[in-house]
Amino acid sequence: MNFNQRAAEPQLICTCNDFYRHSIEESIAAGCEDADEMMFDLGSQFRCEVCRPLINRLVLRKVAAEQGK
Ligand code: FES
Repeated sequence: MNFNQRAAEPQLICTCNDFYRHSIEESIAAGCEDADEMMFDLGSQFRCEVCRPLINRLVLRKVAAEQGK
């Protein structure tokens, strides 16, 4: 995780792979149910894994929104 880059670009979620929020949300919308599935869907893998909790929170928010919670 490049924290300086992340601070400068709030929509950049994974600095190791240059994955922005919109790409992650597209993978979630396509049916990915956790961070590992999302990385697979985007054809990459975790490097430092610092972004993993944030990606999992995005997945949980999406699931909660779909369930109306
Ligand atoms: S920020 Fe390092 S793997 Fe995502």
